[in-house]
Amino acid sequence: MRGGMSPAISPWSGSGFDPTGQCRSRDAAAEYWPWLNVSWHSEKPADAFFLEWTGEALVLRSNQGDARSTVGVDFLAGAQARRLKAVTGEALTRAIGCQKGLRPSVFDSTAGLGSDCSVLANVGCAVWACERHPVVAGLLADGVRRARDSGATWVQHLRCDWADSVEKVANLDHGVVYLDPMFPKERKAQPTLAMQWLHALDNTDAGAEQLLAAALASNASRVVVKRPLKAPPLAGPAPASEIRAKTVRFDLYPRRKLSIDDVDSLREALFS
Ligand SMILES: C[S@@+](CC[C@H](N)C(=O)[O-])C[C@H]1O[C@@H](n2cnc3c(N)ncnc32)[C@H](O)[C@@H]1O
Repeated sequence: MRGGMSPAISPWSGSGFDPTGQCRSRDAAAEYWPWLNVSWHSEKPADAFFLEWTGEALVLRSNQGDARSTVGVDFLAGAQARRLKAVTGEALTRAIGCQKGLRPSVFDSTAGLGSDCSVLANVGCAVWACERHPVVAGLLADGVRRARDSGATWVQHLRCDWADSVEKVANLDHGVVYLDPMFPKERKAQPTLAMQWLHALDNTDAGAEQLLAAALASNASRVVVKRPLKAPPLAGPAPASEIRAKTVRFDLYPRRKLSIDDVDSLREALFS
């Protein structure tokens, strides 16, 4: 979808499966995702999508397809944990402008399940990540909660909010704005289960061009957009340059040279 208004965000009311009956720990965790109004059941709900409290984590499950599959956020084990452990100079960190002694603050306007914002926080960028879909924001908040509880230090550089970034981005006066809108459904490559479910939850790229326009109208020093390798840039001004990775491309819209002001801007606002 091109242009148009950014859809208003509203909280989510749906079913939850709590086979553990661990109400106390579940309610304590719910402080981290107050925008989810979950009606908990000890039997598996019949809904197409529902949340499950495993006793330790919040995950999304579905009655469509493989009923055993879950989507959640885990920074402590699996592929994302390995990515964080590697702490390598990825195309993403180069696109953001990380250099020796310079870790720009980043406003991640499309936080999703937190893969990119955790990598950026892990290399030392101060990151403010906003996600507008309440279920996705809930899964992310729960993953961050578990990482924080486990003592992961990079979480101290990361703040995640359930919010529409179009409204937040206008107030930025430095740093880098990062956009990773949903890739088009008709893309040839098979999307991950998480991406298939995010699409099924009506989580679209609606308003991506509006988000780019808002980012470019802010006072951020650089805007970076992740795109499929062969997709055209988002509608709007042409990017000045690009950084290509194996399967994706980062379109760069530099506004001015990154400086120490870009390092400290969000860090002071968010974490001091
Ligand atoms: C492709 S996913 C991002 C994946 C993310 N980079 C990661 O590493 O997990 C795109 C996400 O952006 C969110 N989104 C799109 N427009 C947004 C907006 N204006 N404000 C906040 N979130 C938005 C969508 O809800 C979706 O979850």
